[in-house]
Amino acid sequence: MTTETTGPGSIRSRIPALYYFHGLMKPIPFSPPRIDQKTIDAVTEVLRSGWITTGPRTRALEERICSYTGARRTLCLNSWTNAVELALRWYGIGPGDEVIVPVYTYAASANIILHTGATPVFVDCEPNGFLCDVHAVASAITQRTKAIMPVDVGGMPVDYAHIMSLARLARPSFVAANDRQSALGRPLIIADAAHSFGARIGGEVLGSQADICGFSFHAVKNFTTAEGGALTLNLPEPLDNHAVWKQLAIAGLHGQTRDALSKSQAGQWEYDIVEPGYKCNLTDIQAAIGLVEMDRYEEETLPRRKAICDRYTQLLGARSWAILPTFQEGSRESSYHLYMLRINGFNEDMRNRLIKEAAEAGVSLNVHFQPLPRLTYYRESIGLLESDFPNAMAHFAHEVSLPVYYDLQDAEVERVVSVVVDSVQRILSGH
Ligand SMILES: Cc1ncc(COP(=O)(O)O)c(C=O)c1O
Repeated sequence: MTTETTGPGSIRSRIPALYYFHGLMKPIPFSPPRIDQKTIDAVTEVLRSGWITTGPRTRALEERICSYTGARRTLCLNSWTNAVELALRWYGIGPGDEVIVPVYTYAASANIILHTGATPVFVDCEPNGFLCDVHAVASAITQRTKAIMPVDVGGMPVDYAHIMSLARLARPSFVAANDRQSALGRPLIIADAAHSFGARIGGEVLGSQADICGFSFHAVKNFTTAEGGALTLNLPEPLDNHAVWKQLAIAGLHGQTRDALSKSQAGQWEYDIVEPGYKCNLTDIQAAIGLVEMDRYEEETLPRRKAICDRYTQLLGARSWAILPTFQEGSRESSYHLYMLRINGFNEDMRNRLIKEAAEAGVSLNVHFQPLPRLTYYRESIGLLESDFPNAMAHFAHEVSLPVYYDLQDAEVERVVSVVVDSVQRILSGH
C-alpha cells in the first residue's frame, strides 16, 4: 500500500475501509426493508385478529393502491411473477403467440412468457440508457404479437404513450383469437413496473398508463409486503375492469368462485370451480405490512429515496468517469428504486473488483441486470447471442448499483461514495 497521504490509494482515502476493518463502522447493506415498531404492531394485530389469509386487509390495500395510482381496479397477489403470468393467461396468450420483452431485465419477465408457451421476442436497450429501445420494439411487432411488456428498469418509467401508440398502429394486422383479444383489438400493453411503484408520468402516479401494470412488493423493493405484487387494471371499453378483476381473482385461487373469507360466513360453505386455476393470493399478514408502507410511502419513503439519489448525484457529478443515472426525462420521473451508476473506462473485471473491494470496506454494491443472453438457459436453450444486444451488454459491463433504502443515513451515503471513488480511482490508475 502506498504511504502517500492524498490521492487514489492513499491512507486518507482508505480510512473508511480501515475503520470498517477494525470494527469501528457498521456494514452498509444494499437494500434492507424498513421494518419498525409500526410494522411489527400491524402484523401482530393481524395475527391476533383470527383472520390471517386473504381478507379485509388485502381488499383495503387494493383500495388504497387504486386511490394512489388512479387505476380502475387493483388485484393484490403473492408476487409480480404470478400476477403478471395470470394476466398473460387471462389474455389467452399461449403457443404460437409472441410477446415483446427487453433483454435488460430480471429473468422473471421472460420466464413467465415461456411458462405460457408463447415466444418471447427480445429487444435491446436504448444506446444511452437502460430502458428498452422503442424503435426496436416497433420493428419487433408482427401479426403474432399479442403483448408488449416494457420494463421500468430501476424505477424509471418507459414512455408508455409512445408504446401505446405503437400498439394502436398494430391494430390492422392484429389477429384476435378470443373474445378478450377481439375486445381490445391490439397487443396488450402490460408494464413490468416491478421497480416503479410511485413513479410519475406528467405528474400522475404510474398505474393507469398501460392496459395493466404489474408491481412487485418483494422484500428489496421500494414498497414491500415481504413477498407480493399487484396488478392495476386500466383496460379500455368494452372490457369491464371489475369483471376482469373478478376473473383474475378466481384464476388466482384455483378457479374457485368463493374466496376463504366469503366461505367463512355462516351458511356460505358452497363453491364451484370454473377453471383449473392457480394459487397465488396475498395474505392479510402481508397486506398489513403493505398498509403501513402505504401510509408513509408518499410523505416519507419516496422523498427519502429521492434525497439519497440526489446526494449521490451531487457527490459523484464532478467525476469524469461517472455516467449518472437518469431520474427525470421529459414528463417522466423515477420511483428512485435503484442508483444505477456506470463507470466510463471500466470493463466487467474492473467492475467486479470494485464490488469486491467495496465489500471488504463494508459496503454492499450490486449489479442490475445480467442481460438475458448472459444466463445459461437463455443462451443455450433459447439461443440468445450477446452480439445481438450490444447496448445491453455495454451497459451491463460497467454498471454498479449503489445502496438506496429509507434508513440509509447521510453520513453513510458519503461513506459509500468515498469507498467507491477510492476504489474506482485506484482501479483506473492501474494500482
Ligand atoms: C424487473 C423485474 N421484474 C419482475 C420481477 C419479479 O418480481 P417478484 O419477485 O415480485 O415476482 C423482478 C424482481 O426482482 C424484477 O426486478
